[in-house]
Amino acid sequence: MSDLPRTYLTTPIYYATGEPHIGHAYTSFLADTLARYHRQTGASVLFLTGTDEHGQKIQEEATRRGVEPQKLCDEMAARFRQAWAELDIEYDRFIRTTEEEHRQVVRSFLRRLHRRDLIYRDTYQGWYCVHEERYWTEKDLTPEGNCPDCNRPVREIEEQNYFFRMSRYQEELIRHIESNADWIVPEVRRNEVLGFLQNPLSDLSISRPRTRLRWGIPLPFDEDHVTYVWVDALINYLTASGAIRPDRPEGDEGFDDVSGSWWPADLHLIGKDILTTHAVYWPTLLLGAGLPLPRRILAHGWWTVGRDKMSKSLGNVVDPLALREQFGTDAVRWYLMREMPTGGDASYTPERFLIRYDELANVLGNLASRALSMIGRYREGVLPQAAGVGLEDEIRETLASFHQSMESLRLHEALGAAMDLARVANGYVEATEPWALAKNPERADELNEVLSTLHRTLGVLAALLFPVMPGKMRELAAALGLEGVPSLEESVRSTPLAPRVSAGLRLFPKADKVAADAGGA
Ligand code: MSP
Repeated sequence: MSDLPRTYLTTPIYYATGEPHIGHAYTSFLADTLARYHRQTGASVLFLTGTDEHGQKIQEEATRRGVEPQKLCDEMAARFRQAWAELDIEYDRFIRTTEEEHRQVVRSFLRRLHRRDLIYRDTYQGWYCVHEERYWTEKDLTPEGNCPDCNRPVREIEEQNYFFRMSRYQEELIRHIESNADWIVPEVRRNEVLGFLQNPLSDLSISRPRTRLRWGIPLPFDEDHVTYVWVDALINYLTASGAIRPDRPEGDEGFDDVSGSWWPADLHLIGKDILTTHAVYWPTLLLGAGLPLPRRILAHGWWTVGRDKMSKSLGNVVDPLALREQFGTDAVRWYLMREMPTGGDASYTPERFLIRYDELANVLGNLASRALSMIGRYREGVLPQAAGVGLEDEIRETLASFHQSMESLRLHEALGAAMDLARVANGYVEATEPWALAKNPERADELNEVLSTLHRTLGVLAALLFPVMPGKMRELAAALGLEGVPSLEESVRSTPLAPRVSAGLRLFPKADKVAADAGGA
């Protein structure tokens, strides 16, 4: 693989049982924003998403609907793809765990563990939550005997399973977490995992007897059992990386040299609900197989409605597509990325949405429409030649803090820094009073400098905000007379010769106008 900077980022693969909702969309927006940011800085990017299509949950949902599991998965995978297309989520690879390639990689992976004597057969006795697809011990359950995560009833299970010797890797995993301070972000989640690892780690059941569960990938060393859905699902990250080549002879499938592939992933983006699977099961499985660990895991918080987690079972899921109809996709993306401090929780309220929307309309939109209409009015729509360095320091500082925040995955801060630059630029308009300069022909050069500075700042803003609002920033760049959205470096370096701008751009109509239009429609 070439020496160009590269980034491999992933979202969880979503269960093919329910419709895509704002929770899924949030994780995917985070990944898309980061992917676009990295592409913009010149990296080659693999942005992976997809659907999790095996397991009891799918089998039961298919039975409930009276369809074959594969048909349900085909339908739901198409729904997710369509939702991501509508929300401008530009993934590079959409993986489905029912793909033949993935089935073969899972089997190679398990064969490898088996050959390394890391798998044994034993009786499993405990409790299982189908909704979470998770085992629990008696002491984990709620006082009513329900699942501690979703409070649904659990089932008692006693059966023959194959186990992975996860306990063997407890110390190595602790050492890894302790010596890599930002392996799990944010810190509160890192501490949660370290706390979990203070108790002895048990071995991991990795299979189900086929008599009970048909819908899964058969174990390569015992076809009467299928792979536990979480083990199957986690391996998707490896499948998509191209590291494992099941078609090669045993011993040469790529486990000992991943250098020609995308593995290890640079970042797994997940919700905090699936931290243990990603920060304990997955790394220990990788250590067992002798593969490098992912470089970073970001566990984000919940979107809540008031105090309740937004969830389908609570019936309070806000459909992102509904907000989009009124305000447009980019305003929804902006709200979600700007509002939730990466890693924390955030409560959805219509009032907060409007506050964030007003930022777009009154700060950024206002700046763009003022600057463009002044260039239209005072210079007949052609940007005059001038250095345009009136906000040089502010631009430089914004870029530095933007990059720093993006690299440390604090997207809300990066976006805040960009919006602050727009605020500063509005202040610059007030302070320089271009309308007064325009009245005095002797001050034409000063006016040129102001207009050029505003044009340049808007070019920088288009570049900074493109990852979160690709559609609107394309519109802005076009109105500025630029050929496409500039890269961050280009936006700072140069202004094209005398671009012709288009006045009358309404990037974000005022919220009351949007509401009136919706009411009248
Ligand atoms: N299939 C597993 C993941 C396997 S990854 C190897 C799964 N799927 S899921 O459909 O339940 O998606 C879970 C993910 O959706 C969460 O980790 C989170 O990324 C996102 N969210 C679901 N509801 C959410 C909120 N209310 N708020 C924010 N994100 C949430 O688990």
